[in-house]
Amino acid sequence: MTRLWYGGDYNPEQWDPAVWKQDVDLMRQAGVNLVTVGVFSWSSLEPSPGQYDFGWLDRILDLLHDGGVSVDLATPTASPPPWFTRLHPEAMPVTPAGVRLTHGSRDTYCVCAPAYREAARGIARALAERYRDHPAPAMWHVHNEYGTTCYCPLAAERFRSWLQERYGSLDRLNEAWTTAFWSQGYADWTDIEPPRQTQYLVNPTQFLDYRRFWSDELLAAFLEQKAELRAQSELPITTNFVFGGWVPVNHARWAEEVDVVAIDHYPDQAGIGAEEQTAFGADLARSWAGGKPWLLMEQAGGTLNDGRRLHPKEPGRMARHSLSHIARGSRGALFFQWRASRGGAEMYHSAMVPHAGADSRIFREVAELGSVLPRLAEVAEGNIVAEVAILWDVECWWAMQGTHLPSSALDYLSAVRSAHRHFWSAGVTVDFAAPDADLSTYRLVVVPSLYVVSDVAAARLAAYVESGGQLVVGYFSGIVDPDLRVRTDGYPGAFADLLGVRVEEFHPLPIDGEIALASGGSGRTWSEDVQAATAEVVDRYAGGVLDGKPAITRRQVGAGTAWYVSTEVDRETMADLLQLPASQVETVEWRSGDTTWTFLINHGDSRAVVPARGIELVTGDPVDGELVVPAGGYAVVRSA
Ligand code: GLA
Repeated sequence: MTRLWYGGDYNPEQWDPAVWKQDVDLMRQAGVNLVTVGVFSWSSLEPSPGQYDFGWLDRILDLLHDGGVSVDLATPTASPPPWFTRLHPEAMPVTPAGVRLTHGSRDTYCVCAPAYREAARGIARALAERYRDHPAPAMWHVHNEYGTTCYCPLAAERFRSWLQERYGSLDRLNEAWTTAFWSQGYADWTDIEPPRQTQYLVNPTQFLDYRRFWSDELLAAFLEQKAELRAQSELPITTNFVFGGWVPVNHARWAEEVDVVAIDHYPDQAGIGAEEQTAFGADLARSWAGGKPWLLMEQAGGTLNDGRRLHPKEPGRMARHSLSHIARGSRGALFFQWRASRGGAEMYHSAMVPHAGADSRIFREVAELGSVLPRLAEVAEGNIVAEVAILWDVECWWAMQGTHLPSSALDYLSAVRSAHRHFWSAGVTVDFAAPDADLSTYRLVVVPSLYVVSDVAAARLAAYVESGGQLVVGYFSGIVDPDLRVRTDGYPGAFADLLGVRVEEFHPLPIDGEIALASGGSGRTWSEDVQAATAEVVDRYAGGVLDGKPAITRRQVGAGTAWYVSTEVDRETMADLLQLPASQVETVEWRSGDTTWTFLINHGDSRAVVPARGIELVTGDPVDGELVVPAGGYAVVRSA
């Protein structure tokens, strides 16, 4: 992929064919070169079982191709038609409380139901057979945002097989799940159920294993469709990842199975938090992708949704968000959706062509960005340079969603986001890395609240420090093994020796409470009674029962240093520790040989003057020493 893709979800079945021609003309005007077609088209493509109606899709693909727009052709399996419910009531999903759902929305099926799997393979095969030689498709898009869970008897059966595979014996499972507690010992595999609604706290390892299982089961369903498409076509195959606490998908693992990593990104904050979230989502996607291409498959054009109301994106903000993704490696910027719907559940979701039509600020900004992107495509010759990694482990996130932790304020995602925010605010690019990844290329590795850690990962981190790495470990790390069993003899368990500290007791802070530090800084969320065994004390708690006890420590290990930060320290304290300057300009650097490309995105409300030399790619103007990036503006400089 050498060009940057630009476009969005196109759902022409909602429109009279007279609009289609106008759509393609407007796409050309806006520089659109890729649209995702067919994501939710199952009932239009297969109105009754085995009866296909491809006529409308033939016409749309021809029109798009004639207009120079490529297609990301989707399988429609995220929304089976109503006839599917009638024929296969056993394939409808069941909630943890045992309520069976029915159609009327989308994503209403159990992925463990054989009837669903067969129907999904069938429609994928029919699409691949029909369109494998059509010139419009550039990519296959399987399903939409894999992520729904079910607790039905069919899912229970699959879960038991998965557990047999993972544990081999009931003895091993009983040990891993600590079933000796509360009389949960299993003597028969068929007694094991999904973590359905029950009387009181659910078994934490059962809860975590259900997530792990569900990720594998959804992946198996994806791979079946992928195989159907691959049997007919060599085009790249993707599926759009959705990120959220409810999503039982291990994206880092799934990334190995797609040709292009694709993400949907909808920040849920209206203020500057939206920009931070954008950078966070993009850095995660790049890290999941490893060296593979990745693509922002969906974003909202004109609005931000904080869950209560829509906030219009101010002029220029849509472009800055798109640029932030591209700066961090996305091979383009796509939206949901092309034309705003007139009806249906998402009729007020923003679009590239809003209800007001093409004579609108939003469409003008869409067209403007479409004209800029081709000038930036050359950066793909380079690579992003990140010297810092933050560890990310989705299983740790899932484990910390259990209801058994010592404080409800412990929140893995916010700990990781807060680590990322420190670097983002300083214009420093970070990668995310798996705890057991090779970290040797990073000068600094930050480990936010890595509650669950395997022996292998702990040993890798120790080796990283030994050979010269700088490691900063955050509170509530190293506590349990992958079975969620506590590592005894003092927290932070797996990291106690490496960090040279021993913690006997946790001191969770009151919600919104603070603890003072001797340096003048403060901590929130959490604190611990830390003893510095072989570590030096860098900062201490001041006041209260922990007065004078270590809060931040440092230990020289081989050629490197391991730090422990036992509370959620304030921004300034962390910025000092990490030696990070403040910057209002989001900066990302790409390099290839002697050439450097620098993305500069100014989210501030005053202009920024940055040192730069070379050619600014948006304007084509030479830059000689200094570049002014206007408030809310952006620039990309190529330097030799
Ligand atoms: C998701 C889906 C789209 C649409 C958007 C709008 O990302 O993939 O179909 O629902 O959200 O929020």
